[in-house]
Amino acid sequence: MRVAIVGPGALGCLFAARLARSGTQTTLVDYRADRAARLSEVGITVEGADETYSATLPVVTTPPQRQDLAIILTKAYATAELRLPSNTPILTLQNGLGNVETLCALVGSAAVLAGTTAEAATRLGEGHVRHVAGGHTILGAWTSCNPQPALDALTAAGFEVELTDAPGQAIWQKAAVNAGINPITALLNVPNGELLRIAEARQLMRDLVVEAVKVATTEGYRFDRSLVEQAEEVCTTTADNISSMLQDVRAGKRTEIDAISGMIIQRAQVSALHTPRTRVVWQLVKGLERRAKQE
Ligand code: PAF
Repeated sequence: MRVAIVGPGALGCLFAARLARSGTQTTLVDYRADRAARLSEVGITVEGADETYSATLPVVTTPPQRQDLAIILTKAYATAELRLPSNTPILTLQNGLGNVETLCALVGSAAVLAGTTAEAATRLGEGHVRHVAGGHTILGAWTSCNPQPALDALTAAGFEVELTDAPGQAIWQKAAVNAGINPITALLNVPNGELLRIAEARQLMRDLVVEAVKVATTEGYRFDRSLVEQAEEVCTTTADNISSMLQDVRAGKRTEIDAISGMIIQRAQVSALHTPRTRVVWQLVKGLERRAKQE
């Protein structure tokens, strides 16, 4: 099976290295030519809790044609610019809301698989990541794409994968958790676990998740367990993790705040719902982004 991983961030490197190690013909796509050339040469190293492993694989700047699957792990703001292989199932495991709709516009909904992953990884350097915590990957067809080959390849690579008939539900679930954790960790400059120890931060996280769930409800989604509890659980299981948003802020990069809090605000407006806390954290993180640009 030939799989292209699009996006050389921490999760992209983790997925690429694991798939390559399991014997899948894997290509990593990195839009930056200089880095792609270096990664092709030195490979990717993953530090796990029990083992460290390396994988050497081709790293190219545009997604190759004739793939059996492309997994999109770029930042959400890059989705619209992707040049994707034709006649290939495209699986998005990105953070945030709106990626699926953008991909459907690019390649047609019949080629789109969607889902989420709770795998947590931190970038230690170029092509060097720490696998902080394992977690479920959930995926399914957005409309009619067969999810079985993706399930088989990821399972063979050692990921815990589950199929769902409702990938939109899983995406909202993850987005609500991210809407609670990511902006506050970015604003307070703390690892995820600290949110449980700082009373005000914990309350704000809970309030943000509740606002997100209210918006999801207007779109017809219902959750069989409390997402507030789930967000707190994620803070525990990834206590030492630096959230992806804080990693971006520390690196002076653009964050995914628009695809997380920004999309929640946008979708709330459709039903004239107020999401005041979400708006404030969105404004503050945008402020951090602007300040980084000016420095
Ligand atoms: O974006 C992230 O960092 C992750 O989705 C999560 C779950 C918050 C863990 O760090």
